[in-house]
Amino acid sequence: MRIPESLAKQGKERIKDYPVEGFVYGEGPENPVIMLVGEAPGETEIHNGIPFSGRAGKELMQSLEFLGLTRDDVYITSAVRSRPYKWGEKKDRSTGEMIKRKYNRAPTAGEIKAHAPILDYEVKNVRAPLIVTLGNIGLQRLAGKDKKVTQVHGQLLKQPVQYIESPDAGTFSWTEETYEIFPTFHPAAIFYNRSLEEKLKEDLIKLKKLIEERRLIDNRV
Ligand code: URA
Repeated sequence: MRIPESLAKQGKERIKDYPVEGFVYGEGPENPVIMLVGEAPGETEIHNGIPFSGRAGKELMQSLEFLGLTRDDVYITSAVRSRPYKWGEKKDRSTGEMIKRKYNRAPTAGEIKAHAPILDYEVKNVRAPLIVTLGNIGLQRLAGKDKKVTQVHGQLLKQPVQYIESPDAGTFSWTEETYEIFPTFHPAAIFYNRSLEEKLKEDLIKLKKLIEERRLIDNRV
């Protein structure tokens, strides 16, 4: 499934005044086993255009393997489709010189709203029986600001999701339809906090059971 070019163009236009770069399309079949919703692409992704192809992506692919899935079985997207960056300085190892470079940062509320119509379109048009949010940004974008990944990870939420009713006013509303959301940690969070590894594993065991119980893999069209 690929979003219409007009929607991508609109998204690029809406985000152009923020400190972000590049644009990465969501990727995957129209009838995936699950839909994965991350935060925003990083440096690797904006260079090759493939979501979750950097360091976090390697970690995510291990999780998919554990679930018995490959990249082709899932739809991968995120709350924001451009890389949010901030400037920082790093010492050049050979010359000792300080070099300015871009670092990843979490997307702001304005950036999330700018790309909200894109994720709304994907949620509506990708027929995913289960939405797996990776980290707080994806979780709160869809299930509401009051949700915290540390509190609800590994639980199956059955609820409406937020969509942006009027992108110009920037206000979110709730869908009439109920969705099933399975929140878990962002794969990059594991690098910074290895104690989450065990919790992620427990979540994956639950998710694998859900996929098997519902025969989601067998039901693929
Ligand atoms: N994190 C995300 O949320 N998406 C990517 O594509 C890469 C890292």
